[in-house]
Order: sequence, then C-alpha cells, then structure tokens
Amino acid sequence: MIAKDKLAIDGGTPVITDPIPYGVSGPSIIDEEEVEAASKVLLSQNLFRYDSDSECHQFEKEAAEFLGVGYTLMLTSGTSALICAMKGVGLGPGDEAIVSGYTYIATPAAIIATGAVPVIAEIDDSLGMDPVDVEHKITPHTKAIVVTHMRGVPARLDEILAIAKRHKLKVVEDCCQCVGGQYKGESVGTKSDAAAWSLNYFKTISTGEGGMAYTNDRDVYERILYSSDPGLPMWNVDLARRDHAQGQFYDVEYQLESFPGETYRASEISGAVGRVQLGKLQKVLDHQRTLKKAFMSELDEARSYKLQYVDDAEGDTGVSAGVIVQDEALAKGFAHALKAEGVDVGAIFNSGIPDRHIYSAWESIMNKRSHHPSGYPWKDPSYKGDVEYSKDMCPNTLDILGRTLLFNFHMNMTEEQAKLMARALNKVDASLGN
Ligand SMILES: Cc1ncc(COP(=O)(O)O)c(C=O)c1O
Repeated sequence: MIAKDKLAIDGGTPVITDPIPYGVSGPSIIDEEEVEAASKVLLSQNLFRYDSDSECHQFEKEAAEFLGVGYTLMLTSGTSALICAMKGVGLGPGDEAIVSGYTYIATPAAIIATGAVPVIAEIDDSLGMDPVDVEHKITPHTKAIVVTHMRGVPARLDEILAIAKRHKLKVVEDCCQCVGGQYKGESVGTKSDAAAWSLNYFKTISTGEGGMAYTNDRDVYERILYSSDPGLPMWNVDLARRDHAQGQFYDVEYQLESFPGETYRASEISGAVGRVQLGKLQKVLDHQRTLKKAFMSELDEARSYKLQYVDDAEGDTGVSAGVIVQDEALAKGFAHALKAEGVDVGAIFNSGIPDRHIYSAWESIMNKRSHHPSGYPWKDPSYKGDVEYSKDMCPNTLDILGRTLLFNFHMNMTEEQAKLMARALNKVDASLGN
C-alpha cells in the first residue's frame, strides 16, 4: 500500500510514468478480418440488404442468438434504433416517457421524434435512474419508462420493471452503452418491451455508425420494421418479410397494417463489419471485465469516496467504474492530483463544461425547441400534460455527477495499467481523504 506517499502535485513521483493509451473498445480491435468482410461486400457490388442473403440478416440472426431474444433489426444508429423501438411499443403524440437525467441527448431526442414528451428523472448512486423519483414523475399521460444502462453498468432494472408493471407502462431499454451487458442472468434489453444497441465509434463493438433494435414481441417487431423503412412493404416481399425468432429464419405474413416510417436501413457493409465485431464481443467483454476486476481488487479501503452502486456486478460490461467522492471540491482536488499521478479523470458534471450526457446541457430540450415553430410536441393539442424543465430540476443528479470520477477500461489498456490506476487512487485518497 502506498500510504501518504508524497503526491505528484507536491513534487512526489507519479504512480504512472508511461502514459496510459487512449482507447475505445470496438474500433481498437479492428483488423484484417473487418477489412476483408467489408471488401467482400464492396467487391460484390451488392450493398442493399433486401437484394440477397444479406449480411444484415446474418448479423441480426447472430445477435438474436447472442442475446437470446426473438427479434432483432439492424439499423443506421442507436438513435434510429431507439426511435423504432419507441414507435414499436406505441409511443407517440400525447404521451409522456420518463427518461434519466444522465443519458446521451439522443435518448430524449428519440422520444421527441415519436411525438411524445420526455419527462426527466433523477439518478441515484447507481448512476442510473432513481426508481423512487421515476414513480414520482408518473402522470396520467405517462406511457413508457426509458431506462438507460450508462457506461456499461446495468441500471436498477427490477425496480423499474416492477414500477412499470404496477402502473401498466411500457419499458424501453437504452442499451447503447451496454452492448453485451446482462441483468440477473439475461441480456439487458430482453426483459422489457423493446431495446436498442448503438454500434457507433465509441461503443463496445462498432460499425463506425450503426445500431440495432430488438424485442421479444412479434407485434412490436413488426412496428419496428415499418418504422425503419417506408418502402418496406413494397420491397421484394420474400426477403423483406423474412423474419427470425431465436436465430431461426422463417417467412411470415405481416399481421399489422403498414404505416410509413423513415429510412433507417443499415448498409450491407455495416452488416458485414458488424458480424466480425459481434464475433469479437465476448473477447472485449472478457478483457474489460478483467481490467475492472484488477482495478477493484487493488483498491485500499476508501477514506473519502464510495463506489458506484452496481445492481448486478456479474452483468456489468466492465467498461467503467464510478468513484463517488464526498463533495465537489474534493472531486476537483482528486481529479487534479490524479492527473499528476498519470490518470486523466474528471468529475462527470462540471458546471463549466457542457456534457451531452447530462440533462442540464440539453439546451434545446430545456427550452422546448423542436424542428417545428408550433412548439410540437409540447404544445401539440393532443398533449394535455404540463411538463416543465429547468437546469436545476434534478439536483441529486447534478450533485452525484459533480462528485463522481469515472475510470474507464478499454482494449488498449493492460491489467497492470488498471492496477496502477487503482494505486494512484489509493495514493490520492490516502493524502486528500478525510
Ligand atoms: C446512452 C446512449 N443512447 C443513445 C445513443 C445514440 O447512439 P448513436 O450515436 O448510435 O445514434 C448513444 C450514443 O452515444 C448513447 O450513448
């Protein structure tokens, strides 16, 4: 243990002398396999998913097997997957959907894209939605709860599902940052009405940009399909209608009347790259989890912080660890001292720096601005609620995030580096902690 060693900010020797490399998980492991898969598609000159025995279909089949879910649809982004999932469960004008105050702005933006109104709820020390506040935010207009599993850590899903059941609400899981995560033995997203993955550049696996919507409900899936492509019912019917359940393709007749959605079809290049990345997902998860375990096991007893509450440590994807310090000033002191020790972490909420993942920085939403000057969806005649927003409406969220230092683990990091980060935290806590 490094007890009260002289801090690097005071002229002591830094714990980490070789800088820890930057990394993101999916893109950091791209190699010849992805290059070959993408080249094969390009050289085939067939980039359209409904023309052949498609790579996108294969990706969907393999992802359905990985997740243990009935229906999957590859799309252009996590945002489009969220929009389709939300339309899939029937969210629309006149409805409210409860969303966490700590999630990427795309989550409430997707709610608005369906015509519904986002209602922002507090987080707690899990950094996920606070179930108590979620229940307080329910009104007669609430149709759904949208729960985000932030930074790879599953939220308090059981409690959210119980609330939804009591109030007869739909649940959509935003799993964009938790691809490969589990909750109580099952893949995140599979216990709710619908869910979304993102495959963008920063995610656990990546196709550059991309996403996937998934559900176990046949009707929800069909609505997701219609939402993803206005021309769908008119494409080559055999291929467009082909469906799969638990990885088995079979032809289906549409059961619901079609409606026009937007075009969010994924390209065959994304399908091919996605398949390779999906094949590497377990490797990414194993590595991230090993790093997080190494970090945790190296920690001394904390003096002035507590660790983020994790509702299901087994299902955690291991990409981050939240360290919640006693107060904001101490968090700043920790960040400053840690930087000198070779660990670049800051408090998540810093009033000086707008973060797209914190509601108070969602300027357009705080001001109820949408694409249309009528004030839609807030002033839509079908909306009878009166939601109000302000930058200080979720004080617990700002307080917790202002005290939370987020340590990140990724494919370019070694176990030794994860341990060194823990030793740096031990050293700073021993000196600055109370
Ligand atoms: C929690 C969360 N939701 C939704 C999204 C949107 O995903 P995409 O960028 O693929 O549209 C992201 C992406 O950063 C995210 O982190």
